[in-house]
Amino acid sequence: MTKPHIIVTEDLAGEAAELTVRELSAAVAQKGVASFVLAGGGTPLGLYRVLAAPPLAQAVPWAHVHFFWGDERLVPPDDPGSNYAAALENLLAPLSIPPDHIHRMRGELPAEEAAADYAGQLRAWAAAHDPGAPHPWPRFDLVLLGLGEDGHTASLFPGSSPAAGGPVMAVTADYQGRPAGRVTLTPSALNDARHVVFLVSGSGKADAVYNTLHTDDPSRFPAQRIRLAEGRVTWLLDPPAATMLDRPQ
Ligand code: 6PG
Repeated sequence: MTKPHIIVTEDLAGEAAELTVRELSAAVAQKGVASFVLAGGGTPLGLYRVLAAPPLAQAVPWAHVHFFWGDERLVPPDDPGSNYAAALENLLAPLSIPPDHIHRMRGELPAEEAAADYAGQLRAWAAAHDPGAPHPWPRFDLVLLGLGEDGHTASLFPGSSPAAGGPVMAVTADYQGRPAGRVTLTPSALNDARHVVFLVSGSGKADAVYNTLHTDDPSRFPAQRIRLAEGRVTWLLDPPAATMLDRPQ
């Protein structure tokens, strides 16, 4: 497993946008299609807006990009708490992404049904677009992940089990008053990805960043379960989120 590449930048959205353009364009050039897993929460919204506006809106062959989610809250797709709704407003609608390229987790379903439904969507997409995949889910070309102040990523929370091996699981977790019922990709699905990018902003995340990168306690810091079989991991941090990393080792 390769060591993570850590980038500290004042322009988090700009750096993340340039990386996204590079990765998605290369995937489309190589395979004719790219799979892009979006993160929820607030941090990626700045990135989405940069990607959806000129000049980058014209810099990616968006017609060949398929969109997925790392996690979703169990709310309807038009709910203010929906990760899909946030991505639709800030990225997918401005880019006029066709509905058949948008593979959302159906948060309106009961938890286990939503998880099973998404596993079925992943299986079908992989069969059609990623026939060489070693498991019945895609080898995602680019996965965006956030990090919570408590160390969670996607909806993999401290103390949660690493899941039984399937690609999607239902969880319940309280975090900053956000919807507690969720479905999330599991480490099994994430670890087949070609490139995972953690996008982290703010001093409130500094402890979680340091402990995730410098301790060995996956139960406490679930982002440590993201150990790609063959892919690359990049941490894109703004200076406040990287404060602890400046500490002499
Ligand atoms: C969610 C996200 C979650 C998020 C972190 C960080 O559904 O809430 O997927 O994992 O990435 O909680 O959220 P912020 O970017 O808002 O700090």
